[in-house]
Amino acid sequence: MPKIVFLPNEDLCPEGAVVEAEEGQTVLEAAKANNIDIEHACEMSCACTTCHVVIREGFDSLEESDELEDDMLDKAWGLEPESRLSCQALVTKEDLVVEIPKYTLNHAKENH
Ligand code: FES
Repeated sequence: MPKIVFLPNEDLCPEGAVVEAEEGQTVLEAAKANNIDIEHACEMSCACTTCHVVIREGFDSLEESDELEDDMLDKAWGLEPESRLSCQALVTKEDLVVEIPKYTLNHAKENH
C-alpha cells in the first residue's frame, strides 16, 4: 500500500505523520482516516480551497488536475506549482510527501 508522509503542521499534526493509503483514495480521505482533519468546507465537491495541500514528493504520480480544480487552486493561499486540492488528488501506487499549508482561505466563512 502506498504511504503518505504528512509533514508537521502546527494545528493538524504537530509531529507530522506517516499513514497508509489505498490506491484510488483521495489524499484528503487518507488524512481523515488517520485523524488528520484537513478542512473541507465544500464537502469535497471541488468548490473551495480549504483542502489545499502541496505535494512535496510524488506529484507526478498523481493524475493531472482538471480545469475546475486549477481554477479553484488559483484562489488558494500559498499556491505553489505542486499544489493540489486534496479532495481531488487520487493516490496511486506511489508514496507521497504532503505539506498542509499553514493557512487556508475559507471563502464560505469570509462571505458572511
Ligand atoms: S473540500 Fe472543497 S475543494 Fe476540496
